[in-house]
Amino acid sequence: MRKPIMAGNWKLNKNHLETLAFIDEITPVLSGVGDVDIVICPPFTSLNVATARTKGTNIKIGAQDLFWEKSGAYTGEISGEMLKVLGCDYVIIGHSERRQYFGETNQTINKKIFAAFASGLIPIVCVGETWQERSAGQVEQVLSAQIREGLQGLNAEYHGKIVIAYEPVWAIGTGQTATPAQANEAHVLLRKLLGEIFAETAQDIRIQYGGSVKPENVRELMAQSDIDGALIGGAALKAASFEKLVKFKG
Ligand code: PGA
Repeated sequence: MRKPIMAGNWKLNKNHLETLAFIDEITPVLSGVGDVDIVICPPFTSLNVATARTKGTNIKIGAQDLFWEKSGAYTGEISGEMLKVLGCDYVIIGHSERRQYFGETNQTINKKIFAAFASGLIPIVCVGETWQERSAGQVEQVLSAQIREGLQGLNAEYHGKIVIAYEPVWAIGTGQTATPAQANEAHVLLRKLLGEIFAETAQDIRIQYGGSVKPENVRELMAQSDIDGALIGGAALKAASFEKLVKFKG
């Protein structure tokens, strides 16, 4: 049985004071939740207060990116070790916005996945096709390259720990969610692709869906056979809405 994992990806939103206010609102209402892993991924500047304030609770903190080197002359970058020492447990890697605006490739993503595991962080690795690729019938080809090249060479001890987020680019922030059937079809395909490289653990790997997930559609998405959680942008920014998403079972 794969334990559901609901993660909020705040992107470039909320300073550290707003982060504290959100955490103080959400912690008491989520304290009784034990059957879902809860993750919040605020901006770097909020991570310090977020990890301190959630210590000892059932809310885990993730970063939205890292750099693959441990230290050195890399102005503006943050290492996995810095995140781990702060108390982070997760890190999002290869979000489509980073692929689109910051030149990330399957190769840089691969290096970042290794760096995350080396620092004791669990990577949430984002994959997904654009609308153009979907229209051209290239979904399998795109996902296959993202999985094969992104996860290449990963040591067997890490296989079951990785979290994959299927985020069709056309569904992110557009209000246009993939239908539950469309999403599940991609998740089944991803699990098949994962099975080709991680034969023993593909069934245990959690695959989140992301792209315009909200309280109104989460239940139906989570009812699908291969959807094991959600990576949520806009609807994770308000405590009331994030609470409903985490408590999708009702
Ligand atoms: P969205 O973003 O929920 O606002 O569509 C999801 C994501 O990009 O992770």
